[in-house]
Amino acid sequence: MKKEFSDCYDLVVYQIYPRSFKDSNGDGIGDINGILSKLDYLKDLGVNAIWLCPIFKSPQCDNGYDISDYRDIDPIYGTMADFDRLLTVAHEKGIKVIMDFVANHTSSEHEWFRRARSSKSDPYHDYYYWADKPLNDWRSEFGGSAWEYNEPTGEYYLHCFAVGQPDVNWNNPKVREEFKSIVDFWVKKGVDGFRCDVLDHISKDFEKGLRRNGPHLHEYIREVFGRDHLLNLYTVGEAETTEESILATCGQDRRELKSVFQFSHLMVGRKGRYTPVPCRMDEVKDILEGWERFTEERDLLYVLLTDNHDRPWFLSRTGNDRELRYECATCVATMVYLLRGVPFIYEGQEIGCANSHFDDLTAFNDVECLGYYEENKDKESEEKLLAEINFGSRDNSRRPFAWDGSPNHGFTTAAAPWLPYASRSDEINLEADLASEKSIWRYYRDLLALRRERVAFRQGSCRQLQPSKKDCYVYLREYEGERFLVVCNFEREQRFTGLPEGRLLLSNLKRRAGANGVYAPYECAVYDLTNR
Ligand code: NOJ
Repeated sequence: MKKEFSDCYDLVVYQIYPRSFKDSNGDGIGDINGILSKLDYLKDLGVNAIWLCPIFKSPQCDNGYDISDYRDIDPIYGTMADFDRLLTVAHEKGIKVIMDFVANHTSSEHEWFRRARSSKSDPYHDYYYWADKPLNDWRSEFGGSAWEYNEPTGEYYLHCFAVGQPDVNWNNPKVREEFKSIVDFWVKKGVDGFRCDVLDHISKDFEKGLRRNGPHLHEYIREVFGRDHLLNLYTVGEAETTEESILATCGQDRRELKSVFQFSHLMVGRKGRYTPVPCRMDEVKDILEGWERFTEERDLLYVLLTDNHDRPWFLSRTGNDRELRYECATCVATMVYLLRGVPFIYEGQEIGCANSHFDDLTAFNDVECLGYYEENKDKESEEKLLAEINFGSRDNSRRPFAWDGSPNHGFTTAAAPWLPYASRSDEINLEADLASEKSIWRYYRDLLALRRERVAFRQGSCRQLQPSKKDCYVYLREYEGERFLVVCNFEREQRFTGLPEGRLLLSNLKRRAGANGVYAPYECAVYDLTNR
């Protein structure tokens, strides 16, 4: 494996939703100086990279995924000087900084779009997609038609997301030059990587009805990220995850991206966004194992995650966010983060955050769930819609981080945060977790230390054992004579026999005598099998 790819196995990325991490100036919104004040917290946890969701200037119609100036910081988050300081201090502490790269759309407030929409003859007009009438029946991801009328030119523009997020026309070479120079701007400052938002949308094919994965996708990605001075960046794309397209995007000879997210295991337990279905961990395991095999055999980087800002909490989807909250959170983390790939931890996972329940729509902010409500309010009962939104809203994972059990949870000094705290924040907060014998945070710290200390967990091969046994994931990690066994039991108590025995390194229930024997629901353990 090329060095710039194999180095990525050392990364442990912590995703920060800046609005909700830590407020330093008392306005109820998290900010850069808040993040700065928590870098030691992250270092203690054992992460060595942070990915910041967009902090660029933005009208915030999609919480920053609508950018009006790619080279400036939104004042709600601070200043460029604050960012520069964050970057310097993070680097001093050995923490890399990964930025969000939002290239499929800008904000409708971006100077390019203001000019583009003003007249057909404006030089920026061709930076976006225009049509005299909607070219197709595409729907916006957030509800309504994907085409919006623009009075000054008498045309419609395309927005695959919100009305305030017009899609950019990447077929225009000037657009590609703009984005290359934006990437260079941040790289020159010293950022270490990019998480590329809906990157597969940057090439479309209207004739074939493709709003993503158009014919020029790979050419455009290569044009931006395949340049020599960028080859050491860590890049991860939000893109289609068929085997074929992962190979096409992340192959080491492709000069495109280092990795893409795979989300298929995160669809287990729900149908679409808002309908719960039984969540079978075996199904999650089979999907993970499938990707593990596929990526290992082809020497591709795999991304290990269960949560992000676009999904309700995985822990809640498993149905174990009450009695077995500690057991399930730690077992799932063990199962996922000791696999071969790049771990991504989303803020709050390390204290076992769970979904909220609110009886009122005013407790929600997300453009997606509010759009869903608008589209369905005449067809469905209020009660049903609220239940669906409580289950599926992205706001579940976007609520302010609860650092302690005080009324404002140590997040802000403002009377109220920008979005209500999670409804279980009195129970689920960092202070309470650390005071508990069953601390999820401490388990995460120990788990990440194990990964950091034993190269086999990062670079080693991975082989599933006992594939015929249901309701568990048991695997071996091996590298140059080192061997480790990971046993993760799922929903039911069961007895394991025939496992190789070794020295216990980590277990969530701290009661194991050996690898074989009875495991409680969501009990997990890791053994060193290395012959010394
Ligand atoms: C994916 C981002 O993760 C999500 O939060 C956003 O709404 C859409 N892309 C549009 O940018």
